[in-house]
Amino acid sequence: MKLYTTLEQQLKKEPNFVTDNGELKKWVVLNKAQNFDEELIGLLLDNADLKEKFFVNVKGTLVFNQNLFVQFLEQKNYLNDSYTQYKNKVGLTIDGKYLKQRNEVALVWPFKDCILEGGQSREEDKREEIFFNEILAQDEITQLLEPKVLTNAKRIDKDGEKPLDQFNRNEKGTITDNLIIKGNNLLALHTLKEEFAGKVKLIYIDPPFNTGNDSFQYNDSFNHSTWLTFMKGRLSVAKELLRSDGLLFINLDDIEEAYAKVLADEVFGVSNFVNVITVKSSTPSGTKTAHKEKTIIKQKDLILVYRKSSSATFNPQYVVREKWDKHYSRFLVGDNEKTYRLVNLVDVLLDKKIIDKKISIDELDMDNTKFKKFYLENADRICRLQSHKNKEADKASRTKGEIVYEHFKNGSSQGLYYNGQVITPLKQGIKKVYRNQGFVDDLGMLLCDFWWDIDFQNTQNEGGVSFPTAKKPELLISRIIELATNENDIVLDYHLGSGTTSAVALKSNRQFIGIEQLDYGENDSVKRLSNVINAEQSGVSKAYNWQGGGSFVYLELKKYNQAFIEQIEEVKDTVALLHIWEQMKAKSFLNYNVDIKKQDEHLEEFKALSLAEQKQHLCELLDKNQLYVNLSSLNDADFACTDEEKKVTKDFYQVKK
Ligand SMILES: C[S@@+](CC[C@H](N)C(=O)[O-])C[C@H]1O[C@@H](n2cnc3c(N)ncnc32)[C@H](O)[C@@H]1O
Repeated sequence: MKLYTTLEQQLKKEPNFVTDNGELKKWVVLNKAQNFDEELIGLLLDNADLKEKFFVNVKGTLVFNQNLFVQFLEQKNYLNDSYTQYKNKVGLTIDGKYLKQRNEVALVWPFKDCILEGGQSREEDKREEIFFNEILAQDEITQLLEPKVLTNAKRIDKDGEKPLDQFNRNEKGTITDNLIIKGNNLLALHTLKEEFAGKVKLIYIDPPFNTGNDSFQYNDSFNHSTWLTFMKGRLSVAKELLRSDGLLFINLDDIEEAYAKVLADEVFGVSNFVNVITVKSSTPSGTKTAHKEKTIIKQKDLILVYRKSSSATFNPQYVVREKWDKHYSRFLVGDNEKTYRLVNLVDVLLDKKIIDKKISIDELDMDNTKFKKFYLENADRICRLQSHKNKEADKASRTKGEIVYEHFKNGSSQGLYYNGQVITPLKQGIKKVYRNQGFVDDLGMLLCDFWWDIDFQNTQNEGGVSFPTAKKPELLISRIIELATNENDIVLDYHLGSGTTSAVALKSNRQFIGIEQLDYGENDSVKRLSNVINAEQSGVSKAYNWQGGGSFVYLELKKYNQAFIEQIEEVKDTVALLHIWEQMKAKSFLNYNVDIKKQDEHLEEFKALSLAEQKQHLCELLDKNQLYVNLSSLNDADFACTDEEKKVTKDFYQVKK
């Protein structure tokens, strides 16, 4: 028993191991012991008894007997507020802590502890992919996530495209160019980490919703867990890219939203969940209503909002007020404290012939242009009465009868009061709102977590590209950008699709980074951004008075074996496949256990397979760890990086030699 006391006393010397009530945080200590924490081991070594008990002397070196220490700490009489030793060994852990220790609800699914590259090269492809276990496949994962060599770099501006000369950087050395990266987003995010960790203000993503019909083509029995594994790997690195006051918006629908919420809670911490925004995204009509007797028809998207830390703030947004707020029923006449009087607003409107008959205040028509002009010009005269806490002003104003009282303190006006109430002018409710394709000053209502007012139906051709299934309205992205960023902040979208986020970022003077794996040809984000640079006028162009201009840098992650996979996917017959096999033998990285001679000996059997099976077989021979070229292989002759690639890659990573 004495040793328990000694241990407890010694551990309590470290404030981080003690609760506010002075009790030992045993689970913290256990966790530290499991990780061979230097601080903990140092503390144990400082005490002769503990040193004797928990360390073994091997040839003059003290080795921490972690097992013994953990067992000792886990004994029931010591850890009497917890499990028995045996129960302790069973259970799910996150970050090495048992769920019970974390006091959280956690989402668990097959392959949660894996990394999924999750790539597609063509929209219709469906690939058998490897789940790399985070513990068992550490080498593979390290290779997979290593920063990549960059290729095909070009700058695109008003004069068209030209080879990239050099990245532009600010005084801190950070790249200030807008970037479009073509390639797998997991690998691209890890590549970006080198340059942009802690620098991104907003990440907006619109990933495949996993509807079964979208681009998430993993329609196997693990579809759901695959989606979560896919999202987890990306969210974890995305978090590293965010500034401490950065924000993440994940656009989903009801299929995965609830799961994504629990997942993001785990990655960002429950306390960093901000809200889930409901966006009205469709109107029930036509085929959508076909099953109305069987279900409740979906009309919304859901956007999960997370912050990196509590230092994140928002720019409040307002929407046009559609109905007159009947509390604003007074009009202030007079020019100074002696002449101020309140009269009835409706009477003033009648008098000025803005309305032609006496109506009640809630019948005022906000669409009446004469009335709109009047209330905007007289927003400091139209007012309402409200209760307040200023006792002095309250008392003084009640003695004035019909007269408006102006309250002064130390010579400066504290506002107008009438009969115990404070006078609030309409001016306070005039905000920047979006109306008729523009931002205008008008009566606004604070926008909260229900967005009902964005048109999703007529936005298909925005940006001059067509993206029928999943394109988001520019107004939606503009609202998020306005809410979460200021000019020149960096906005990242790693599911860029048709490029809506980048297009709006360019129009609103934010720096952008967009990542997309697929090349949509005539409808690609590159085409869209070129249109934007050339002053296309759809979407939110008018709102930002967009006149064109700006530029962006286009980059690709250099593919190695991936290029062979793409060729294999493209070909239409066995002859072409065999031609690729010849090239693979000469140039590709094959799995370590592939015997080329044996493959060639069995060529006739290979030919007897169906084309799909032949393709699958060739893909299986390729080493999946060599899909893209790692930065560390830049000068390796096997990968044949061109001088151009070396120059751009070194410039990006600021590699000196
Ligand atoms: C729903 S769309 C985004 C649409 C976009 N918000 C817009 O307005 O055009 C999702 C996009 O994510 C891309 N994507 C899916 N998995 C990816 C991956 N592993 N790497 C890069 N892009 C990926 C898909 O190709 C698709 O273009």
